[in-house]
Amino acid sequence: MKHYLSIKDIDNLSEWVKEARILKSQPKADKNLGANKTICLLFFNNSLRTRLSTQKAAMNLGLDVMVMNFGSEGWALEYGDGTIMNQNTSEHIKEAAQVVSQYCDIVAIRAFPSLTDKEQDEAEVVLNGFKKYTSIPVVNMESSVGHPLQALADAITLDEQNTKARPKVVLSWAPHPKALPHAVANSFVEMMGLQEADFVITHPEGYELNEAITQNATIEYDQKKALENADFVYVKNWSSYKDYGKILIQDPNWMMTKEKLGSAKFMHCLPVRRNVVVEDAVLDSDQSLVIEQANNRTYSAQIVLKKILESL
Ligand code: CP
Repeated sequence: MKHYLSIKDIDNLSEWVKEARILKSQPKADKNLGANKTICLLFFNNSLRTRLSTQKAAMNLGLDVMVMNFGSEGWALEYGDGTIMNQNTSEHIKEAAQVVSQYCDIVAIRAFPSLTDKEQDEAEVVLNGFKKYTSIPVVNMESSVGHPLQALADAITLDEQNTKARPKVVLSWAPHPKALPHAVANSFVEMMGLQEADFVITHPEGYELNEAITQNATIEYDQKKALENADFVYVKNWSSYKDYGKILIQDPNWMMTKEKLGSAKFMHCLPVRRNVVVEDAVLDSDQSLVIEQANNRTYSAQIVLKKILESL
């Protein structure tokens, strides 16, 4: 495998999940695989889980790790071809990406969308810029449109917790005071497309995700109806895609409660705003899988890095 940029880079999800669960039981089994190799983690945005779990996964594989908060400490990058750089950008992606690729064997990047310019965000200029101008593998640690390490961790968590041949899994929108990206929801939808499950997406009208991603997934605007007989409920806020990056409503009735959850398991990628997205009673109950999801971030990163190292 050359790059891990989206869920589409997974050639066999069930096999990857199986392998990741084996790694989880023996995290140091491949501790020499990354010997004398270096991974560089570049963060254009904040992180807790992605930063620590990817470092831990790399260390489990014997990789040396370099981390840079590029967004706050690096030069402002220019992405346009032929730009006269007499404004606020100091370095072109062409040089930056080539320079980074001399220092490491794998580069992992987190770069969120602006949520103001759909075309620019969907062009994934940071991720694709590095892909274009480096000779080394690139890993997506959450980009404008996808968070495939999170979705792979979610697939591992579902596999561990599921007891049914065809569980019902609901992705439910929830209110949030800030405009958030679509990346987590997008990758979760793509990952669910590879699962044996009854999958339903529920959100208020106007919050439809990109149709190119949801394709023929079931969308139910009545949250109560969508949650009927659910086994797993994945809650996430995202801003409007159609009215790009806008908050259309903040209706607290969409918050997940213990009553609405019923006997289903609760999932969220974290960080989560308590009593806005989900009430305390859910997060503090045995039905919440959020801590295990975060734990599985290490093994989703580790299986991806292992596959990349094996193909170097
Ligand atoms: N879920 C997730 O990616 O968490 P961080 O933003 O803290 O990395």
